[in-house]
Amino acid sequence: MKVLKVQPIKDGTVIDHITPGNALKVLKILGIEGKEGSIISIAMNVVGKRGKKDIVKIENRELKAKEVDKIALIAPNATINIIRNYEVVEKHRVSIPSQIIGIVKCPNPNCISNSNEPIESKFVVASKKPLKIKCYYCEREPNMEEIDSLII
Ligand code: CTP
Ligand code: ZN
Repeated sequence: MKVLKVQPIKDGTVIDHITPGNALKVLKILGIEGKEGSIISIAMNVVGKRGKKDIVKIENRELKAKEVDKIALIAPNATINIIRNYEVVEKHRVSIPSQIIGIVKCPNPNCISNSNEPIESKFVVASKKPLKIKCYYCEREPNMEEIDSLII
């Protein structure tokens, strides 16, 4: 039997197949605190076709490309579903950008990207699975378990 755990939405975005336990990090990336007044539904550790997952549903909001890139860093299997009038009109799997520019702060305080120089942070992907990224400037590899605290 298929049990409906969270209501369908009329218009907005459903972020599905989020790495279990990471829904709150997705909300943090999107700056959602719940005081905006729009309807937000969160399901954590629900069992989907491919095991456990989290889901975040946001009514009346579409995501910007930069927001989707940030979500990819903490939920590499997530899908972004655009809902209009109850129908899924678009479905995209997030993907890790090959160069991660201006969305993650380098954890090395001495890195030139943290200096007063006008240099945007930049990381290259050292490994896709498991995801490992490396600072283009100082080669520091942030601990991916704490990556959400470095997302700008
Ligand atoms: N959804 C929703 N409101 C709608 C339509 C869909 O909240 N009006 C949600 C569904 O509950 C699901 C996601 O959006 O979490 C994607 O919907 P759909 O593509 O219909 O589901 P699946 O086929 O199960 O998706 P996938 O193949 O990506 O697992
Ligand atoms: Zn660096």
